[in-house]
Amino acid sequence: MKSFVTPFVSAVLVLGAYSLAEAQVPTFNKDVAPILYSKCANCHRPGEIAPMSLLSYRAARPWARAIKAKVVAREMPPWFLDDNPQHPVADANVLTQAQINILAAWADGGAPEGTEPAPQPPQFVDNVNAAIGRAPEYTLSTPTIDIPASGQFPNINVWTKTPFTENTFFEATEMRPTNRSVTHHAGTFALAMPPGSSIGRGPAFKGGPEIDGILTKSDGTIDDGAGAEAAEFATSQISPAYFDEGPRRARGNTHNGIIGHYAPAGGFLKYPADMVKRIGAANQYVNWLLHYTVTGKPEKVRMDMFLWTSDPKKAKYEAVGSLMDDVEIVNGRELIGRERRPSIKPFEDKYTVVSMTAFDSPVTILNFWPHMHLRGRQMKFVAAYPDGHEETLLDVARYQFDWQLFYFLEKPVKLPAGTIVRAETLYDNSLKNKVNPAPQIEVPWGAMSWDEMHFPFVEFVLDNDVQPWTKRRSGTN
Ligand code: HEC
Repeated sequence: MKSFVTPFVSAVLVLGAYSLAEAQVPTFNKDVAPILYSKCANCHRPGEIAPMSLLSYRAARPWARAIKAKVVAREMPPWFLDDNPQHPVADANVLTQAQINILAAWADGGAPEGTEPAPQPPQFVDNVNAAIGRAPEYTLSTPTIDIPASGQFPNINVWTKTPFTENTFFEATEMRPTNRSVTHHAGTFALAMPPGSSIGRGPAFKGGPEIDGILTKSDGTIDDGAGAEAAEFATSQISPAYFDEGPRRARGNTHNGIIGHYAPAGGFLKYPADMVKRIGAANQYVNWLLHYTVTGKPEKVRMDMFLWTSDPKKAKYEAVGSLMDDVEIVNGRELIGRERRPSIKPFEDKYTVVSMTAFDSPVTILNFWPHMHLRGRQMKFVAAYPDGHEETLLDVARYQFDWQLFYFLEKPVKLPAGTIVRAETLYDNSLKNKVNPAPQIEVPWGAMSWDEMHFPFVEFVLDNDVQPWTKRRSGTN
């Protein structure tokens, strides 16, 4: 008998003959706790975003049936990629089929605790980042925001000034909310202030509480959406020359500005050892996209971002980012020049945007941040190589607006000059889309979460463009 064949495997094999399996039902202490502790506890512990703790038998037992239902449906842990990615991403939190079977057999078998000694729950050391080994050089913070006990609290968009006056290079950032239980996700961009705008006190959203850090645009309206509108007129500080060409450049569609990202159980962005990322001298404002949720009691929260700077002379490469959308084909028709995408029609269930960017020099792809709103269902990134073959780089096959993740490839992918990266995006404004708030309305394009967005963002390095400090690139000041 091989030692890795656990008794539970036999339980699964004899599920038909139920009585025989009685003694072999997986137990919490032996089989279930190790799974819950490694795959669920990050979020399912006191003070985190999930509604209940799964850190002990007592806490988990009442949830046995719900646990089975959620893991069998693959709704927990939240994960949105296709099942067998060609290029695995780092920190993928998915259950194996064997682990799903254990949790299901445990629930079906009466969710026993077991007679084995209870395993030690994982220890979480909050507010410490051991991965870098030194204190951050900078801490940037939002104002403290009051979150009401109940009601809708949409995405909000806050602006603060950075302490930087010149190009600043960093190797890592971490976003850390002071209150995790209300924090769903957040992202930060380093941007230039839109011309003619000002930052001050204002409503966090229409009808929402007054807070600091609200941006009023030159036309007097408030930027309270998903922030992307602002991002659209902020120009990149580090665009390599080829970004300056192509029709889309006129829209300012390169976004090197993402500097931080937070999702439950995550929040740490670290670039590989030979790379840095730049905050351009002109991008002196931080635009915080904050998604908080209500918990049933009034809460307060501040988001902090820690930044570990880096000497660019020690780095070989600079990470840059861009939307893959030099060319856009909407529902099979290419948009010409500055033509806008048509709105998504009521009940339209297959609105497609295929957008692409061609690389005329070799690049190494690092990560992806696909962003859409509530009608977004799928975004798939495909590399079309110059020799004609294609491969999928990332397929967010079950996209959900609520869970915006940043996907770092486990192994960065090198693309030769002439490769086209294509983003294939699907929107569904029908009733089939469970999170659709209003299929009967037409959905325009815009920054608000009730509008739609198309943001196929990719970060990469230009393989030939080594040594970030030696060149003055076009667009830099
Ligand atoms: C990244 C954070 C995260 C991880 C990891 C995670 N969960 Fe959850 N879980 C949540 C959140 C947030 C909710 C509540 C919202 C929802 O249902 O989407 C939830 C809800 C649930 C529910 C439904 C609770 C209810 O009120 O009915 C169950 C059951 C559950 N999770 C089980 C699990 C199990 C089992 C795992 C591990 C295999 C897991 N979760 C991993 C965040 C997480």
